[in-house]
Amino acid sequence: SEDIKEKGANFEHQKWEEEHLNAALLHFGSKDAKEKFKKDKDYDYVLDDEITFVKSLRMPGKNEKKNKNYESDLEEEAQTRAKKSIEETRKSLPIYAYRQDLLDAISQHQVIIIEGETGSGKTTQITQYLCEDGYTKINGEKKKIGCTQPRRVAAMSVAARVAQEMGVKLGTDVGYSIRFEDCTSDRTVIKYMTDGMLLREFLNEPDLESYSVLIIDEAHERTLHTDILFGLVKDIARFRSDLKLLISSATMDCEKFSDFFDGAPIFRIPGRRFPVDIFYTKQPEADYLQAVVVTVFQIHISQPLGDILVFLTGQEEIEACSEMITEKSRKLGKKIKELIVLPIYSNLPSDMQIKIFEPTPLNARKVILATNIAETSLTIDGIIYVIDPGFCKQKTYNARTGMESLIVTPISKASANQRAGRAGRVSPGKCFRLYTVSAYEKELDDNSIPEIQRTNLGNVVLLLKSLGINDLVHFDYIDPPPHETLIMALEQLYALGALNHKAELTKLGRRMAEFPVDPMLSKTLIASEKYKCSEEILTICSMLSVNNAIFYRPKDKIIHADAARQNFYNPAGDHITLLNIYKQWEDTSFSTQWCFENFIQHRSMKRARDVRDQLASLMERVEIDLVSCVDDSVAIRKAITAGFFYHSAKLSKTGSYKTTKHQQTVHIHPNSCLFESLPRWVVYYELVFTSKEYMRQIIEIENDWLVEVAPHYYNAKNLQDNSNQKMPKNTGKTSDQVTRKYPALN
Ligand code: CDP
Ligand code: MG
Repeated sequence: SEDIKEKGANFEHQKWEEEHLNAALLHFGSKDAKEKFKKDKDYDYVLDDEITFVKSLRMPGKNEKKNKNYESDLEEEAQTRAKKSIEETRKSLPIYAYRQDLLDAISQHQVIIIEGETGSGKTTQITQYLCEDGYTKINGEKKKIGCTQPRRVAAMSVAARVAQEMGVKLGTDVGYSIRFEDCTSDRTVIKYMTDGMLLREFLNEPDLESYSVLIIDEAHERTLHTDILFGLVKDIARFRSDLKLLISSATMDCEKFSDFFDGAPIFRIPGRRFPVDIFYTKQPEADYLQAVVVTVFQIHISQPLGDILVFLTGQEEIEACSEMITEKSRKLGKKIKELIVLPIYSNLPSDMQIKIFEPTPLNARKVILATNIAETSLTIDGIIYVIDPGFCKQKTYNARTGMESLIVTPISKASANQRAGRAGRVSPGKCFRLYTVSAYEKELDDNSIPEIQRTNLGNVVLLLKSLGINDLVHFDYIDPPPHETLIMALEQLYALGALNHKAELTKLGRRMAEFPVDPMLSKTLIASEKYKCSEEILTICSMLSVNNAIFYRPKDKIIHADAARQNFYNPAGDHITLLNIYKQWEDTSFSTQWCFENFIQHRSMKRARDVRDQLASLMERVEIDLVSCVDDSVAIRKAITAGFFYHSAKLSKTGSYKTTKHQQTVHIHPNSCLFESLPRWVVYYELVFTSKEYMRQIIEIENDWLVEVAPHYYNAKNLQDNSNQKMPKNTGKTSDQVTRKYPALN
């Protein structure tokens, strides 16, 4: 194993130097350009405001001429790339030189850690090498090569790429499986899937007998599901000596993985990374979105061609930024070269995703607005500039209150460096950090906290319980979750009725585990049986799964769009509003035109319909008939409350809300249809934190429903309404607190 480590390390150094040199010659061939390149290192990067920016527009040509060489080089490269056959492209990837070494190592060891720079070909090539080497047929029996991805977009796009490289149709020999979408068949031998999907496969096939190799890819991301998979695959590898296990990661702390897998050898694939110059802002940026836009145009006007990658925190931010850039670009018109703005985030429909991989047209520049997904999961060729505002959206979890919320947080140093690295894949690049050097040094943590330590574990605990893993405290974690988080998960599952007082799985819990959704949602689905509204609940749950992408709100038609949205509003709450939308769409036989007229995103609706179909077949599995309550909003809301009673809140005098149990202050999201009506009691779907804690997707409830749906959790006396506002059931009792009973813990 030492051998393998050595081989990689030495070579890495040499090759890097060599390529560094070549690249400098290729792209900065002229003396002028070389000088400029050197000088740029000392260039003090300061953000101009729009006025200065316009000034620099009045002096065009200066940079363009200087960089002529550079641009024609890029064009040439783009053309060669387009001409290159698939075979040549595959051979040009850094991993190719190690193909045989890697296969040898795999045949000698059961578990190997593979470390390599992003873009070196790990994800797309290793599966194919294994396939070519016979791993899909063992002793005459068909076996699969599985490869997990933390993100759905990555699983889909990588599978598509590999299918293309192998010249097969996606879904045949090469396929993917993500939640609510299975694009595989009996023929599939290379299967890409989200880590969550592999986790669920353990339910049907506990020893994963149909796989000969499992690749846990993007291990460095340390998602909750990947972390749990580590423990599970390590365990099955013990009694399945024929199973090969590859843990693959970007260049980061791989010793930790090696230690976890009993000292498994690390195979390092030397990457090719060109130097990236890093620029910081002189002052902190108050509005980083604005700063992004200014920086994009500064680069576009002053720097040679080459695509820009911007890291933003989520879909909403990406859409806002995209509009700002497009608008500005439209205003500037012919004064600038063409800017092609492309978004990429996990909910983006697949036909839109493909666009980011299309080569940039001559004389144009792509600006890719991405979430963290482009940090390591996806490699987009041609990126030379990276703009890094230094934030990402992270789940955080308060184990004491059980409140989970999405918060925009500063990234870690490790992330910042991965992001910068994205600029140096095809040539030397530049990374513009929209924060100060001292912020980088003093405010960023070295590494991100693994998800298992900052999320609700309800889902995973339910899954592990249904796999028969009872002792969750002593499960083989690479990093253990906080004890309180585990306890909270057990308590919540107990309150939902999924576990009994001995913390054993109940019949209800077993049924809930069939659904690949959060326990609160699966409880809602099952409760719909009792309230005779399964048709409606199915629709609502499907709509919730795409809920942030339903309304279309173009800037120039905001008034119309908002009016259209308000037409659907239902005083009972947002869930019922979503139901209305779906029903009306269904009434028009799923018309595209109807969506268009009502400012509804057709793609999202289609996705909701797909999700609905999937959930419907799972309902059949747990033997729940699909029945409709027609328009009984109370039945529907009671079913929702049966799943989400944890998420109840009560109006307080100030117009904000307090969560029932912990008295945390929360607010109704301005997009909610209940924003103005302020009902006394509400149940919310999720919390998001922006300027404050907002409840998103809310229904109005009656407080006594809480006792009805969760009598072991809520106590009638404690829920009595004691405020002095006009309310029939107001009894003036004082306590507003809720008691809870604790389940026994293992
Ligand atoms: O996994 P790793 O980061 O090591 O590399 P990869 O994802 O296998 O990417 C290898 C090459 O395939 C890169 O040059 C990507 O640009 C290319 N690729 C692509 O063109 N389209 C995709 N959907 C995925 C990868
Ligand atoms: Mg990869």
